[in-house]
Amino acid sequence: MTVVGPFGLTVRDSAVEADVQSGMAAVEEGLFEATKSDVPFITEAAQHLVRAGGKRFRPLLVLLGSQFGDPHAPGVVPAAVVVELTHLATLYHDDVMDEADVRRGVPSANANWDNSVAVLTGDFLFSRASRILADLGPEAVRVQAEAFERLVTGQILETAGPGEHSDPVEHYLEVIAGKTGSLIAVAGRFGAIMAGADESVVEILTQYGERIGTAFQLADDVLDVASDSHESGKTPGTDLREGIPTLPVLHLRAHAASEAGTDEDRALCELLEGDLSDDGRHAEALRRLRAHSALEKARRDTVRYAEEARAMLGPLPDCAAKTALSELCDAVVHRAG
Ligand code: IPE
Ligand code: IPE
Ligand code: MG
Ligand code: MG
Repeated sequence: MTVVGPFGLTVRDSAVEADVQSGMAAVEEGLFEATKSDVPFITEAAQHLVRAGGKRFRPLLVLLGSQFGDPHAPGVVPAAVVVELTHLATLYHDDVMDEADVRRGVPSANANWDNSVAVLTGDFLFSRASRILADLGPEAVRVQAEAFERLVTGQILETAGPGEHSDPVEHYLEVIAGKTGSLIAVAGRFGAIMAGADESVVEILTQYGERIGTAFQLADDVLDVASDSHESGKTPGTDLREGIPTLPVLHLRAHAASEAGTDEDRALCELLEGDLSDDGRHAEALRRLRAHSALEKARRDTVRYAEEARAMLGPLPDCAAKTALSELCDAVVHRAG
């Protein structure tokens, strides 16, 4: 049994393991092929983050999903490439919006070049994803278009904030389901569709993807507070510095405003709302949030979503791919500590 995916995932069936490994290798090849341009600088910028690595979580989901039909069907690997290229493009854009300097352990495109290069390289990646998608047929194009609309809507809603009358936690959950759950749901869905799996399986893997995608983003937001950059390949506290209130901060605020809230809680809220461009204040805010029970509460929420994802798998036939999908739920939670 060898490790085939992110977070040390293993597959307990040698045929499935071989499929996933050869599929992942084909996806790598497809990613490099799809990011080549006649203009050498575009190739360099587009391959910058492909080379830097990343977990390849979404292609893995496509491949595992394809195990419920014919995993060797011709659309499976291209669909996995489309999903990873789309994800990659959103990372180029996201780092511009979040003013992030580090991605996948290397300088982000905006830090390495500038915002224009990062935005246009993201657009280039979208165009290449669309080209491959066109060959997968109109249903695939529609599925991807609908998810992409949700993803962009999630990013815009995050930027816009919850507004005066909506509940901040509900708004946050809507944002993360849109910006992250949507594309991870497509990964599960594409795997099943391309492999010709039954409609019921397509639906289950879509719902599973949506929930594990939400858990995945919750874990990412916990990690933004809890991890060091060595673990995440990103700069810790980026969300805090940008003033993006993720779940640990929202839990802290709710706690501070409740009867149980202490002066210390309220002082931490004030610190977080103040100017965190100052390194000392930023480090202090991170240190205190790491020690607060709000972080633990956000971790418990992550577990809850991961368990919901696992529960979706119930009706699927027992097989190695189902076990692997179930173990992914543990792996996602484990990341968040
Ligand atoms: C980062 O996604 C953005 C989120 C939606 C959390 P990943 O954590 O999958 O990033 P890579 O692909 O491994 O770099
Ligand atoms: C990224 O969200 C979501 C998309 C790229 C669509 P975040 O901004 O929370 O992700 P990281 O932490 O930068 O990876
Ligand atoms: Mg970001
Ligand atoms: Mg962001």
